Amino acid sequence: MAGDQDKKHVLLGVTGGIAAYKSAELTRLFVKAGHEVKVIMTGSACEFITPLTLATLSNNDVAIEMFPESGEFTTRHIDLADWADILVIAPATANFIGKAANGICDDLLTTVFPAATCPVLIAPAMNSNMWDYPAVQENFLKLLSYGFYSVGPDSGDLACGWVGRGRMVEPETIFLKALSILSLSGRLMGKKVLVSASRTEEPIDSVRYISNRSSGKMGYALALEAKAEGADVVLVSGPSGLTAPRGIEMVRVTTAVEMAEAVKKRFDESDVVIMSAAVSDYAPSNPPASKIKKTEAALHLDLDSTEDILRSLGEMKKKQVLVGFALETDNAVDNAIKKLESKNLDFIVLNNPNESGAGFDTDTNRVDIISRGGRVDELPLMSKREVAAEIITRIVKLLNSM
Ligand SMILES: Cc1cc2nc3c(=O)[nH]c(=O)nc-3n(C[C@H](O)[C@H](O)[C@H](O)COP(=O)(O)O)c2cc1C
Repeated sequence: MAGDQDKKHVLLGVTGGIAAYKSAELTRLFVKAGHEVKVIMTGSACEFITPLTLATLSNNDVAIEMFPESGEFTTRHIDLADWADILVIAPATANFIGKAANGICDDLLTTVFPAATCPVLIAPAMNSNMWDYPAVQENFLKLLSYGFYSVGPDSGDLACGWVGRGRMVEPETIFLKALSILSLSGRLMGKKVLVSASRTEEPIDSVRYISNRSSGKMGYALALEAKAEGADVVLVSGPSGLTAPRGIEMVRVTTAVEMAEAVKKRFDESDVVIMSAAVSDYAPSNPPASKIKKTEAALHLDLDSTEDILRSLGEMKKKQVLVGFALETDNAVDNAIKKLESKNLDFIVLNNPNESGAGFDTDTNRVDIISRGGRVDELPLMSKREVAAEIITRIVKLLNSM
């Protein structure tokens, strides 16, 4: 039972699929654990389970209408969004996922969704052909790229008679995942995880810079997956166009010097440090404070090498699990093993930007994970969130064996 300080406001969105009946059990699990639950149902959800059931189990009125018949003036969609510590959508229909991914707000739940600034957990449920439909996949991945959490769907027998992927995971699994996201449980609960992400930009003058193509997608995925395991996460991010993940402390930096300072400052207090940022190896020496004027003559830049942050962290390392990334185009595995050993890492994640679907600014990655001792695990092509989950699982195992 949650103590007063751990008692959370759970806003449960129920949409119109067969699995809506499982939202009753999910409500009961949260209430039994001492949390307060408010439920929003779509009109279709009311065809599958009565609002009375969910109102009774949650001890709260169920919100359905955007414009209640009472006609009273209300900004209930904002009040509910502000009230929530977590928004859980279970089940999430293909229709809901499509609307949410595209900013459509044509009922109460789809209007609360973009108004909520708390972490959001989505549990999809649908027929396997619907789940595989490209537009549904695209919409779902778009939501994940905005920093939302998901759980499932599972594979197995579906209500429609088909067998395949699409079944909503069991209420207990959704409940536990929500608690992890709220840092109330999870395999990394109580652990401090520091993740660096994206690139650095090194000024040439007041308007130009040297950088690389790293988008931050891998690092942001790692931060989210660590958070989904209950960790206290700090994300040190270089410039990136990505949305700041919810519930995660963000530290924004621009240059390699700032990146080094930000991660070294937080290193001692961290249990796990994952350096996925592509830090510039070189920076122009003494960039002028104004714009270099264009002339006919060639311009030669002097570059200084920047601090090898991973090496510095390897030297500072005491109890931390330290994970590095390597991006190699030649002699990849040999070079990665050298980096792993010389920088005192626990394991290194190798990606090759020349492989299709891997490396910079893609939603997928194909990586090898190389452990101390030189064991190489070649992972298949997966979404960056799935790669991140694999990396986190290995970190959990290392922590458990320490
Ligand atoms: C018996 C029945 C079961 C359904 N099950 C699902 C389902 O599991 N997943 C889904 O995405 N849509 C399902 N649908 C279709 C949705 O109810 C429909 O797309 C509806 O517009 C969803 O509305 P909502 O997203 O606002 O709740 C089902 C429809 C029926 C009649």
